[in-house]
Amino acid sequence: MANILYIDDEISALRAISAILKKEGYSVYTATTAEEGIEVLKKSPIDCILLDYRLPGMNGIDLLKWIRVSEISVPTIMLTAYGTIEKAVEAMKLGAHHYLIKPVDTELLVNVIKEAIEKSKGISKFEKIDAPFPEIIGKSKVMQDVFYIMKMVAESNANVLITGESGTGKELIARAIHKKSLRSSKPFVIVDCTTIPENLLESELFGHEKGAFTGATERKTGLIELAHEGTVFLDEIGELPMFLQKKLLRFLQEREIQRIGSTHRIKIDVRVISATNRDLEKAVKEGTFREDLYWRLNVVRINLPPLRERKEDIPLLVNHFLTKFSKENNKPLPQLEQEVLEALINYDWPGNIRELANIIERAIVLSPSGVISIKYLPKKIQEKTGWPVKEESTLNLLEFEKSLILKALNSTGWNQTKAAEILGISRKQLRTKMKNHGLLSSPDED
Ligand SMILES: Nc1ncnc2c1ncn2[C@@H]1O[C@H](COP(=O)(O)OP(=O)(O)OP(=O)(O)O)[C@@H](O)[C@H]1O
Ligand SMILES: [Mg+2]
Repeated sequence: MANILYIDDEISALRAISAILKKEGYSVYTATTAEEGIEVLKKSPIDCILLDYRLPGMNGIDLLKWIRVSEISVPTIMLTAYGTIEKAVEAMKLGAHHYLIKPVDTELLVNVIKEAIEKSKGISKFEKIDAPFPEIIGKSKVMQDVFYIMKMVAESNANVLITGESGTGKELIARAIHKKSLRSSKPFVIVDCTTIPENLLESELFGHEKGAFTGATERKTGLIELAHEGTVFLDEIGELPMFLQKKLLRFLQEREIQRIGSTHRIKIDVRVISATNRDLEKAVKEGTFREDLYWRLNVVRINLPPLRERKEDIPLLVNHFLTKFSKENNKPLPQLEQEVLEALINYDWPGNIRELANIIERAIVLSPSGVISIKYLPKKIQEKTGWPVKEESTLNLLEFEKSLILKALNSTGWNQTKAAEILGISRKQLRTKMKNHGLLSSPDED
């Protein structure tokens, strides 16, 4: 039978509920503080956590955050007293399976526990089979969809076009597809269309013969030829000049290249993965990108959503980068102060995962002790912590306004339009107020 951890500082409740659960056949572990609960979690295989919200020291919400960052996938049921429904909602947002109001209806409690354990069994089984790309972090629905397409496409030879804002992981995805493909033992060659000077790009791509042009003192093998039997990754394909778009198209149609200055044609077998953060459809419409080439490259499309549209992945990514960079910098795995994760979740991440990685590494390097506190984050992120420290009754009018704005923003995942609706003002008015309260780092920030 399953193991349940029940954390509550109210001894009478602890006794009564434990007795009921034992009667149902569960093994019950108890703790009177969250800290004690964590010790139990580290040592014993727990299938479900029953958690009181109000605890001395770390409270129930803090523990939920800890569970989330630690990637422990134990379903948690939150218990709250009347009047703290708001906290229960917050708990659900942080991934609690369910919340129940005290005093609990025992029949309901038993059913909810059963359901939570059943559901989590299903999930963990699914995750085990379905994690073919362990180096790519993401549990959000959108990332699961991306993994599904990657898996389907990996063993085929289809060309793939990866689109997404800067720092969303386009190169990481391209490498992972190659690694998972039948070509994995052959080369993965990157062509960065922005860093190679335009006049060298053709010879970089296709190679040249000795004496083909002034300065061609040696024969040179092109990058496409180097990728033979493997994968060529055309990064920032949107920047490819027109005359090379035509040559690339010809290569994709005929699967042959001709080095500059040679009459000889060489058969090449490569899969092409291209990536861009530009709107290629728009470029096609404007006539700066060939439509026929666009269709050749875009056989399978993977669109990586920006990080702000998959905030549920932030805690996992934070944990991933904490582990990675503490190891690389020879530091012990740090703890996060409570508001740090909150601020990281609230921030909008225009630079996406690359920006998150940089900020975590910086915080690890800057913090002298094993604790990362909010002051080691950049100012623009520090400002994103959710709740004012003071009690509402001691706030002055301006502080009260700021706290209302923050509440509205937090309850809508920082969607300004929706927050303005809640506050009964226009989006423009909201933005002006946000700016006055230092909640917008630049007027153009979205
Ligand atoms: N899902 C993820 N899990 C773990 N690390 C990730 C993930 N996505 C991106 N990264 C990391 O973030 C950084 C940026 O990713 P990558 O270089 O692939 O982005 P990109 O989309 O190619 O960006 P750009 O358009 O600026 O070239 C890399 O260090 C990468 O390893
Ligand atoms: Mg890139």
